[in-house]
Amino acid sequence: MSGPYKSFRMKTVKLIVVGFGTIGKGVLEVLRMKRKYVEDKYEVSLLVAAICEVSGTLVNPKGIDIDSALECAQRGKLREHPDWKPIKTLDAIKDIEGDIVLELTPGDIKTGEPGLSHIIAALESGKNVVTSNKAPLAIRFHELTGLAQKKGLALGYEATVGGAIPIINLYRDNLEINQVNSIYGILNGTSNYILTKMFEEDITLDTALKEAQELGIAERDPTYDINGVDTAVKLVILANSLMGKRISYKDICVTGITGVSTDSLELAKKHGYAIKLIGDVVNMEVSPRLVPLNHPLNVSGTLNAIMLDTDVAGTLTLVGHGAGKIQTASSVFSDIMDIVRG
Ligand SMILES: NC(=O)c1ccc[n+]([C@@H]2O[C@H](COP(=O)([O-])OP(=O)(O)OC[C@H]3O[C@@H](n4cnc5c(N)ncnc54)[C@H](OP(=O)(O)O)[C@@H]3O)[C@@H](O)[C@H]2O)c1
Repeated sequence: MSGPYKSFRMKTVKLIVVGFGTIGKGVLEVLRMKRKYVEDKYEVSLLVAAICEVSGTLVNPKGIDIDSALECAQRGKLREHPDWKPIKTLDAIKDIEGDIVLELTPGDIKTGEPGLSHIIAALESGKNVVTSNKAPLAIRFHELTGLAQKKGLALGYEATVGGAIPIINLYRDNLEINQVNSIYGILNGTSNYILTKMFEEDITLDTALKEAQELGIAERDPTYDINGVDTAVKLVILANSLMGKRISYKDICVTGITGVSTDSLELAKKHGYAIKLIGDVVNMEVSPRLVPLNHPLNVSGTLNAIMLDTDVAGTLTLVGHGAGKIQTASSVFSDIMDIVRG
């Protein structure tokens, strides 16, 4: 909207960003790109009221300047930012005025912390939550979604599964009358990259992993990617949110990709198959499986693919980037925009 009435009608939505790592920075970069679009279309100004890091918090009720915050973070000198204050994350979440807490920290899969406490504190203090952190959802899915419902607040977790693939909100907004009979998915880009490289270049898992680490695709500690735990955690979130199940990641039988050899891939190829790490909700299992070369789940590199079998819409397959700071920020914004519209 343009013209003299703009400032009268513009509503402000205050964001509290918790965790200023890859995704936190990606979200601010996308906000910088798309802020005007949101203002023009919805007459809503998205303002960053706080950015919480382990060492302290940037706070500015009038809105933190995104360029300078990103620039200080780039130099590893967030403390030098004029808005820096020695406020602890939980205190910031409870005490700083805000509409949406963006919970973007890494989660411990055994405890769900620190994200679990962040999400509970945000909801308890009347703030909506959008998170990319799968651990708290995988451990306490129904408790957290129940708390949000009780408080009349939103808890968006689109970015926890499949990176940029908008599977959760697609189901909620467009497939609600469908019963989902099964979900199969390639939900971990690192293991898919490794299996693709082993298949295409006949190299060992160790060599493919080393290459993935050099390219920044695999983390320094890729244990959860390789042993299938990351896939299991995402499968739990899909099963609970799309199929109404009440499971946690301990209910999934998990086998990773460490047992996949170049010989087994060679044999599979000879018979027209690839080997993929598949999450399967029906059998509550994550395991390497044979996938026909012309099957929609045979996606390569870091791509993710999710196949739903439904009673009305039939079979749907979604393919997209399973990670990446800008791609994942797209899913974070899917949830933010839902709150802005609602
Ligand atoms: N990267 C991706 O492509 C991707 C895709 C989908 C989902 N995710 C999920 O999104 C979340 C963030 O991922 P990321 O890649 O951005 O991780 P990251 O680069 O490690 O960033 C996380 C940030 O959170 C900070 N942090 C940790 N504990 C905190 C606390 N108590 N209070 C405030 N800040 C805290 C960390 O600070 P320190 O460095 O000082 O510990 C770090 O700066 C994770 O749960 C991840 O699984 C990531």
